[in-house]
Amino acid sequence: MKKRTSRNPDPAESAPSPSAPPASASLDGLFRPRSVAVIGASRRRGTIGRELLHNLLEGDFQGKVFPVNPKADVIHSMKSYPSVLSITDEVDMAVVVVPRDEVLQAVEDCGRKGVKGVVVLSSGFREIGAEGIERERKLLAILRRYGMRMIGPNCMGIINAEPGYSMNATFSPTPPVGGSIAFMSQSGAMGAAILNHAKSLGLGISMFASMGNKADVSGNDLLLYLEDDPGTSLFLLYLESFGNPRNFTRVARRITRKKPILVVKAGRTAEGAAAAVSHTGAMAGADVAVEALLGQCGVLRADSIEDLFDMAMAFTFQPLPTGPRVALLTDAGGPAIMAADTVKAAGLKLARFSEATKARLRDGLSPDASVANPVDMLGHSGGEDYARCLRIILEDEGVDGVITLYVPPVMHDPISVAGSIFEAARGSTKPVLCVFMARDEVLNAVLKMEGQKLPIFRFPESAVKAMGAMARYRTLRDRPVDETPVLDVDREAAARVFAAAASGNREHLALEEARAVFEAYGIRFAKSRVAKTRAGLGAAAEAVGYPLVMKILSPDISHKTEVGGVATDLRTKEELLAAWDGMMDRAKAIEPRPRIEGVLLQEMRRGAQEMILGVTTDPTFGPLLMAGIGGVLVEVAADVAFRVHPITPSDAAEMVAGLRGARLLQGFRGRKPLCVEAYRDALLRLDRLVADFEGIVELDINPFMVGETAGDCVAVDARMRIDPTKF
Ligand SMILES: Nc1ncnc2c1ncn2[C@@H]1O[C@H](COP(=O)(O)OP(=O)(O)OP(=O)(O)O)[C@@H](O)[C@H]1O
Ligand SMILES: [Mg+2]
Repeated sequence: MKKRTSRNPDPAESAPSPSAPPASASLDGLFRPRSVAVIGASRRRGTIGRELLHNLLEGDFQGKVFPVNPKADVIHSMKSYPSVLSITDEVDMAVVVVPRDEVLQAVEDCGRKGVKGVVVLSSGFREIGAEGIERERKLLAILRRYGMRMIGPNCMGIINAEPGYSMNATFSPTPPVGGSIAFMSQSGAMGAAILNHAKSLGLGISMFASMGNKADVSGNDLLLYLEDDPGTSLFLLYLESFGNPRNFTRVARRITRKKPILVVKAGRTAEGAAAAVSHTGAMAGADVAVEALLGQCGVLRADSIEDLFDMAMAFTFQPLPTGPRVALLTDAGGPAIMAADTVKAAGLKLARFSEATKARLRDGLSPDASVANPVDMLGHSGGEDYARCLRIILEDEGVDGVITLYVPPVMHDPISVAGSIFEAARGSTKPVLCVFMARDEVLNAVLKMEGQKLPIFRFPESAVKAMGAMARYRTLRDRPVDETPVLDVDREAAARVFAAAASGNREHLALEEARAVFEAYGIRFAKSRVAKTRAGLGAAAEAVGYPLVMKILSPDISHKTEVGGVATDLRTKEELLAAWDGMMDRAKAIEPRPRIEGVLLQEMRRGAQEMILGVTTDPTFGPLLMAGIGGVLVEVAADVAFRVHPITPSDAAEMVAGLRGARLLQGFRGRKPLCVEAYRDALLRLDRLVADFEGIVELDINPFMVGETAGDCVAVDARMRIDPTKF
């Protein structure tokens, strides 16, 4: 057989679309302009044109600002220009806030003027349907003609808080605080709300962009632009949809090795193909692709906006923990119990203190206090107790991070307690998160304290979740870089099988065809032979050898067990004939009567763990790979993991390791450890198969028998559906 050795396509290599601007086209024209024109500036309060101009001036933008409005000579005490073309100075960036019908002309003028970037706030584009789509297409054509870049349309504007620019080109009423968070929002309104809340938590931003329709500059472009920006150390993304998931994977995988990306994703992807015949298709829920994709690229997903902020606070103000061991320090039992309960779910562990630590803690606390983790100092403890105990705990080598919990009792001044905690935590290389279960006024006062650099939470669970996210990021960031596996595959052999099915316009491959495809890709099948007639059984059985399994072969039967079409452990010719007779009788009783092509006789495999491997296609994300505990009850066990194609060897390893039933492969109840490597290898081969053939719609191998050695690992059943027009 002719074999071709080739490498998996590198996920980092994805062809840019032909209409895209060159990757080198910088976004500096948008974010670092020396001069900004506001086209559609207005003097009427409350209008976008007025508020935006006001924000630029009020925010102390370091460059020049030119209001443009043909109906006014002076706006905001500044000379106003009838058109961007009548400005004599150079204009780097223009914000466009004119009515929809005037946008194209305004942007055309910008092009002629030599403007480098435009931020189009005006709406009336793709979001309104056909007429808007056409307008957006024309807008893009103008941009390409002049080599301009654009944020929007239909957005809220952008901010660069970097010293030297200090540009607030939004109409948000809250002026931003400078900091190191780059924040991108697909929704303008959410953007404004989030900016506002960030400020109240003391979170400063480096850059902000409300992305709008993302007609030109995408979220991926922004990630790339800020990837190595020294002023940005954390990305926050509010997403509603993915423009180009493959690009996102590539970019995010790389960036998360340097800076954390936190995402809150609204909306759910459309349900996968409703007509799924495979187990994999049936089990891929609506949100599974998003979840898988984000996990694969090391992106942390927040469940809510609140969660996003909790995480952002922790990442901004504190160092990352080096491990999962967390200590809890409290003055009240209840909150500590709540916190301890959530520790495991957050991927953390309760730290175990050394005897020395316990002795030091005990010294100075009331005899009733608890010095094991959680440390409960009891209700009368004050700032000094917190500071002393916190220092001792931080010095314990078995502790990776600390959460302090404080429920202010009547006798103490919560502000001074907060001050003591801050002081004790200062300079620590381990993260300290603080829970203040206090009234709003107290909490706000604590948040505003001078030199306050600790993340403050109102409830214990949020602090634990945030610590868990930090620990998880640390592991993700430091994960080893994957080698691209070299796989021996015979693409041509598989292509021939597909071509034959496609020429007959068949969507469903016969079991024998599917088997040929998988074998061409190095996924072994159990030894088997087809017997077309009762008379042919003997010879086929001789070739395979007893004991064996008989399976009905019919293009009309997908799940054989459901019609009594699988008979296992047949040991003699008599049993074989009886099985045939029974199977044929049952088949004849089915309405409408299925076409029967005979049976497959297969060697009987024992002592193996039945696993499933599969692929289904998500309309947005493309192929999804699935791994899980297999067998006829796969849907009941529902113990499966998904990843978005392409996957890496560590993705494959994580898929398997993350299963509830992973222990079944490690040697369970007297069974020897099974060859999990062969199973992971099969996953990577499937990944390669879908890379090579885009026309594969769904498939599964169920079961894939995982035995003790690689030679014992074989598939015994498979199904595959293709799109015949794609071959
Ligand atoms: N070669 C074999 N050796 C041992 N057991 C087997 C073999 N083939 C099938 N079985 C057993 O029979 C079950 C059903 O077989 P198979 O998967 O071929 O039929 P199916 O009805 O099409 O399955 P499904 O519809 O669940 O995918 C398997 O899960 C396994 O327990
Ligand atoms: Mg099966």
